[in-house]
Amino acid sequence: MHDFHYKSNVLYCEETKVADVANAVGTPFYLYSHHTLVDHFTKIQKAFAKINPLICFAMKSNDNLAVLKTLVDQGAGLDIVSVGELKKALKVKAAPKKIVFASVGKTEEEIAFALQKGILLFNVESIPELDEINRIAKKTNKKAQVALRINPDVAAATHDFITTGTLKNKFGIDLASTREILKGQGRYSHINISGLHIHIGSQIVKSDPFVTAIKKVIEFIAELRQAGIKIKYLDIGGGMGIIYKDENPQTAEEFATAILPHLEKLDLQVIMEPGRFIVGNAGIFVTKVLYLKDNGFKKFLIVDGGMNDLIRPSLYNAYHDIWPLKKTAKEKITVDVVGPICESGDFFAKERSLPIMEKNDLLAVMSAGAYGYVMSSNYNVRCRVPEVMVKGKQFDITKKRETFADLIRGESIPEFLK
Ligand code: LLP
Repeated sequence: MHDFHYKSNVLYCEETKVADVANAVGTPFYLYSHHTLVDHFTKIQKAFAKINPLICFAMKSNDNLAVLKTLVDQGAGLDIVSVGELKKALKVKAAPKKIVFASVGKTEEEIAFALQKGILLFNVESIPELDEINRIAKKTNKKAQVALRINPDVAAATHDFITTGTLKNKFGIDLASTREILKGQGRYSHINISGLHIHIGSQIVKSDPFVTAIKKVIEFIAELRQAGIKIKYLDIGGGMGIIYKDENPQTAEEFATAILPHLEKLDLQVIMEPGRFIVGNAGIFVTKVLYLKDNGFKKFLIVDGGMNDLIRPSLYNAYHDIWPLKKTAKEKITVDVVGPICESGDFFAKERSLPIMEKNDLLAVMSAGAYGYVMSSNYNVRCRVPEVMVKGKQFDITKKRETFADLIRGESIPEFLK
């Protein structure tokens, strides 16, 4: 499942001692395993080999250049949501023809830049967006390649905040409107609608919702074909869940077994957009114990990382395993693992049974590779932490720790206050 393991009670990432990285870069930091990334990407590739899908890594989950380069070198395309992501994608020489762009709020600048670079598909989420893309494409004398993101109205059985495919959500276009758009597509002189897209949510551990959504789209495609409307691409989105605690998510193989029979018979290029499945368990967040506080009612293990570094527990009440960098036989106690931020929501774990730890002991918050660093902030004027990649015995900082100068860059006191 991943390359973080104990050898003689010491935590390693591949063949590198995590504590050696901590000594070299200080704490807190994110650490990624090159091998896990490649392994997870390959698992999807192999499981779906029959239909040779274009696997566009959802870089919103982790946009570190080293992570992107690792995957692009394996043949991955990228799923982007902003011009910033597109620029990072181009930095690692991702082929524009392997880039798909979803976002409910693409700006004129973003559309124009993506058109100029010739991306594979704009995954379009509304009629006003179609009008805007057509207008900009006309102005720049380009033809935009478009997939319509359908909202299939299927509940994904996951956290409310990461459910996207029901009509309560802002994403995608309802089926009736999609039908109308496709019938009247002649009015978009500078758009070629060649695909359909769905993405129903994230951290989905069972295949059923995917199958339901895909079946709906397939029926729809059949209806379109009868009406003489041709579709070349079907983008089935991301969302495959991973193990954080005791989930039993479908493996890539099981996922393929469940959906391949439905996809195989279509003569279409399938696109997938996995994020978390590839990178979630390929990364950890390493932090250091500052204090053990006991208020007579509860014990708190106070560490130097905070919710600004990894917000998933605070935002989604998400569970992350906590592993000490050095396993000990010390007595276990029940603690809340908390950060230094001025909020009660600043925690990594609640009521967790962990061996007694002392000042300067190091611990790893596991499964932090997806939606970890990318969602970090400077709240409480804290510098973003470094990101490090391990490959075998080697490791390198792929993004430096921010400095105070980085934090106040561009900030000044107005003349009228001086
Ligand atoms: N495609 C689209 C259009 C998406 O919106 C997303 C994720 C993905 C693909 C990738 O989904 P994945 O395979 O990673 O599940 N911050 C939340 C997750 C937000 C997901 C946003 N969209 C979390 O930490 O759980």
